[in-house]
Amino acid sequence: MEQLQEEYLKLLAQALAAREKAYAPYSKFRVGAALLTESGDIFTGCNVENASYGLANCAERTAVYKAVSEGHTKFQAIAVVTDLKQYVSPCGACRQVLVEFGPDIQVVMGDGEGNFFVKTSSQLLPFSFTSEELNKLAEE
Ligand code: THU
Repeated sequence: MEQLQEEYLKLLAQALAAREKAYAPYSKFRVGAALLTESGDIFTGCNVENASYGLANCAERTAVYKAVSEGHTKFQAIAVVTDLKQYVSPCGACRQVLVEFGPDIQVVMGDGEGNFFVKTSSQLLPFSFTSEELNKLAEE
C-alpha cells in the first residue's frame, strides 16, 4: 500500500513536470499527465491546443498516444494534474481512450500539492462501448 502511494507520488511529480510543457495559449488551462505502463515505463503528456480550437488534444491522450506509438498498450496507472489546487477528472473523450486499454487502469487525480484521488478507468466510464461489442457482431 505504502509502495503504491510512493509510485503514485512519483507519477504525480512527472505529471507536474509535463504540465510545464502544456501548449495552452487559448484556454490558459495547463494539464499534465504521466502514464505508467505494466513494464514500468512512464510516458508523459501535456495538452496541445490549436487556433482551430476543436483540435485541442488533452494531456491524457497525448500520453496514451505517445506510449502506444512506442509499442506499449498495457497500462497500470495515469496521473493527471492541472494548475488548480483540486482534483480534475479526465474528459469523456479521454475516459473512452483509457478504457480502450483496460477497465482497471488507476486514474490518479492530483491537486498539485501531494494529495490525490484514485478511480479506475471503468469507474470513470461505466457502461462503456468497447471492442467486445464489435466482436459480438462478428460472431453473429
Ligand atoms: N484538458 C486536458 O488536457 N485534460 C482534461 O482532462 C480536461 C481538459 C485540456 C483541453 C484544453 O486544452 C484545456 O484543458 C481546456 O479544456
